[in-house]
Amino acid sequence: MCGITGYIGYRDAYPIIINGLKRLEYRGYDSAGVMLYDGNSINLSKVKGKVSVLEERVQENNSGQSIIGIGHTRWATHGIPNDLNSHPHLSQSGNLAIVHNGIIENYASLRKELKDRGYTFRSDTDTEVLVNLIEEIKIQEGVKLGEAVQIALNQVIGAYAIVVFDSEKPDEMVVAKLGSPIAIGIGKDNDEFFVASDASPFIEYTKDAIYLEDGEMAIIKKGREVKIHKIQDDEEVDPNIQQLQLSLDQIEKGGYEHFMLKEIHEQPEAITDTIRGRLLPEQGIIKISGLENNMKRFLNAERIIIVACGTSWHAGLVAEYSFEEFARIPVEVEYASEFRYRDPVITEKDIVIAISQSGETADTLAAIKMAKSKGAFVFGVCNVVGSSIARINDSGVYTHAGPEIGVASTKAFTTQITVLTLMALRLARAKGTITSADFRLYLQEMELIPKKVAQLLQVDKHVKEIAQRYLLSTNCLYLGRGYNFPVALEGALKLKEISYIHAEGYPAAEMKHGPIALIDDRMPVIVIATNKGHYDKIVSNIQEIKSRSGKIIAIVTEGDITVKEMADHVIEIPETEEALSPLLTTIPLQLLSYYIAVMRGCNVDQPRNLAKSVTVE
Ligand code: F6R
Repeated sequence: MCGITGYIGYRDAYPIIINGLKRLEYRGYDSAGVMLYDGNSINLSKVKGKVSVLEERVQENNSGQSIIGIGHTRWATHGIPNDLNSHPHLSQSGNLAIVHNGIIENYASLRKELKDRGYTFRSDTDTEVLVNLIEEIKIQEGVKLGEAVQIALNQVIGAYAIVVFDSEKPDEMVVAKLGSPIAIGIGKDNDEFFVASDASPFIEYTKDAIYLEDGEMAIIKKGREVKIHKIQDDEEVDPNIQQLQLSLDQIEKGGYEHFMLKEIHEQPEAITDTIRGRLLPEQGIIKISGLENNMKRFLNAERIIIVACGTSWHAGLVAEYSFEEFARIPVEVEYASEFRYRDPVITEKDIVIAISQSGETADTLAAIKMAKSKGAFVFGVCNVVGSSIARINDSGVYTHAGPEIGVASTKAFTTQITVLTLMALRLARAKGTITSADFRLYLQEMELIPKKVAQLLQVDKHVKEIAQRYLLSTNCLYLGRGYNFPVALEGALKLKEISYIHAEGYPAAEMKHGPIALIDDRMPVIVIATNKGHYDKIVSNIQEIKSRSGKIIAIVTEGDITVKEMADHVIEIPETEEALSPLLTTIPLQLLSYYIAVMRGCNVDQPRNLAKSVTVE
């Protein structure tokens, strides 16, 4: 979490840094800060609150004279969000400035040692300890900044992406990474450099970027090629300069009020991009290169273990249904955070599928490392190209949803389900566990999904009216069965994370085992009742809610009669196969949460306490 930016070159650094921080705000937004160096001295501004608050503060003081600077937007770990705990942090002498994303786990003992040597601390953060440790090494050992950073990092335990600036050597910056992502943008002829947690802050300036690997540090100096070394043993590493594929319009709101709404509406295109070149109905095949290359391994797998967090975990649950139904492979779906700390039984015959939009989630990353160490083959389903998880997997697929900036995941979820369903069908074909007629039917149906999602997005106005009725609710229940049980969980997560209404998702039949006690005339119950699911069973569940005066919002298939007569509100989805229905039933639930949150005055793109990339465990 936390977003960091830096600039060194010939342009006014401030607008580059502040606009970069705005693009990185999805990573955390409880405080923000910027350090600008004007050739003589360091100017530091840091505030509790969003980047816009920082902007107001700096506007008054920025002389436009700084061509060097670093910035930070914070998601608090050590120390509450306040001005003092915000980054950048200065060393005791005031010469060094640092921004940091991650956690220094042994900060308490380091802090004590530094205190014993006369250091005092202004903040409660682990980061201020690190910058003072670097300063102490620099002074005591008489070394340059790069060397001091390297020695210090060999003493710390934890995770970090850092940028360090030294006013005694103001033409360079030191960047280092372990666990948290960091990219370096390279200007023409090395006349300027950009540093950021992802490439979005600098895509209008350069398409050439280096993503540092874990355990690497770089010294960037104006007019000189980037020098990369391994932190542990100083071995020099050849810089791997990549061409960025990202474009500016992908990371802008494009006329929508919020990124979340834009991303909900991008789903037809995102799903099309995900199936392009993989779903070939005319040839009657599915081709997913990461899977084709490892087909034998998948066909011999005794079990698939899916690891993920949050929304990605819900996509994994949908995949459990499709892999088992079509490919007849046993599947277990695990929270990465639990899996990594258990002592699970994993064998070389297991395949672990790790699902992550960001590709940076700390728990998922750790679960992968653990599974690999036990000999399992790890297959990744990621959205962000070149992310840590995408790089560490043995093989994998990208979802091609495009950048997802709204903190609440939307298009990432539907594209994950899309690619996982394609995988299940492809494996079923290879194993002979699906008839060719059924296989063709699913190919044709899947091809129609983007159009059906587009059609479904027209329910916007109707969903808004429903949102208006329930915006003051304090609790909400989501029920679904089979493929739509994970959608119920996802619907509830969307509502609670952006509107702060308490919501629970349940398998509909489980209602009788507890949650039914909550139902009264103030309890909205969202029931997914598609015609090819366990329709009759769901109808009975709806009767039970009705008898207890619950308010029913039902998601039904077009042409439904029975549920329509019982529910207070219905939202129709186009007809499709049950295994594909989560791709449709999810859409109205996303819209419902979105409109309720907007009507309650919540910041849907930046809900309180959350961050898009959870890079701490
Ligand atoms: C919810 C949401 C989170 C993420 C979770 C995993 O809307 O976005 O629950 O799904 O933090 O993130 P990734 O998929 O990046 O590993």
